[in-house]
Amino acid sequence: MTIIVTGGAGFIGSNFVFHMLRAHPEDRIVCLDKLTYAGNLTTLAPVMEMENFRFVKGDICDREAVFSLFAEERPDVVVNFAAESHVDRSIEDPGVFLRTNILGTQALMDASRQYGVKRYHQVSTDEVYGDLPLDRPDLFFTEETPIHTSSPYSASKASADLLVMAYHRTYGLPATISRCSNNYGPYHFPEKLIPLMIINCLNDRPLPVYGTGENVRDWLYVEDHCKAIDLILQQGRVGEVYNIGGHNEMRNIDIVRLICKALGKPESLITYVTDRKGHDLRYAIDPTKIHKELGWLPETKFADGIQKTIQWYLENREWWEAIVSGEYQNYYERMYAGR
Ligand code: NAD
Ligand code: DAU
Repeated sequence: MTIIVTGGAGFIGSNFVFHMLRAHPEDRIVCLDKLTYAGNLTTLAPVMEMENFRFVKGDICDREAVFSLFAEERPDVVVNFAAESHVDRSIEDPGVFLRTNILGTQALMDASRQYGVKRYHQVSTDEVYGDLPLDRPDLFFTEETPIHTSSPYSASKASADLLVMAYHRTYGLPATISRCSNNYGPYHFPEKLIPLMIINCLNDRPLPVYGTGENVRDWLYVEDHCKAIDLILQQGRVGEVYNIGGHNEMRNIDIVRLICKALGKPESLITYVTDRKGHDLRYAIDPTKIHKELGWLPETKFADGIQKTIQWYLENREWWEAIVSGEYQNYYERMYAGR
């Protein structure tokens, strides 16, 4: 099989490429990635020379480039990770989120129809369900929870999901959607909570916690997400949505304290800063459907996953130092100075 993986130079996409090359050496993986600020070719260096791997630099919104790649590769499967993924950036400037996350998805699905792709998989997010109250721990997101978005990012992802379901119903596109909770692990871009706090701790810099730090996220080790998508490709039913999450809810402040402790840094580094606009309170996935239908369960416990992740950032300083020493500095200044 030939599988086009878009966004494979980013955090989850690269972990998925590694997983697929390991788990299915008989398949050919073609990675299409624009290499935006979040894409990193050095991440893919270990697989670049493999015979069954090809990297193509390109924009999923560039219809001509997408169609010509599909004509050349005739993919059996398309997995779309490519997206603008950071909520704070979407609040600052929504335009590129709408282009990539919605129109890019349309271009990939049009090409998938034209070239008879057997499965189109859309990597979506639990953020399409909006948030849950902090005082109702009995509530969870199921696949039936209404779409109710908060940020330009989540609205763009929800729009793409609606379009995927419309292409399935109207044109019979054999599509599946997965909606996962917050991932963490190796190659996580430094702008996101966990890597940002690890890196700031290592540099003895303030740890900027938004609002009161009581917002809750449901954390899943990235490899478990990749395995779930692999399973959906093999056994998932077309036209279906699968929620992915491991019942691992944590308050932001507790994560930050845990990172301080693990790195032997004082909690006095913690600085409460102005809250994110429209900040979602709590995410919590009910993964019953993927468990019952496909037998998926997360394998990595948070206590182990976070240790492995911290260790990875300790051992891969060149990877993140190359990022934080460049254009990222300007982003950090814009986002956090005087906040
Ligand atoms: P990321 O920002 O780390 O990586 C995104 C990748 O997409 C980068 O390599 C970037 O270069 C590429 N890209 C961006 N625009 C592109 C375009 N127009 N054409 C081609 N490539 C483009 O993102 P991530 O955290 O790895 O997330 C991957 C996917 O998973 C996204 O669709 C995101 O919505 C979804 N998701 C993420 C999480 C999470 O916790 N990070 C959870 C659930 C779902
Ligand atoms: O739930 C899935 C989503 O998880 C994905 O769809 C997104 O692509 C991904 O970025 C992530 O979104 P979040 O907004 O939850 O992740 P982020 O790491 O940006 O923030 C996690 C929480 O930490 C959130 O409540 C905001 C808070 N935060 C974040 C940063 C960067 C801080 O308190 N301080 C910070 O500096």
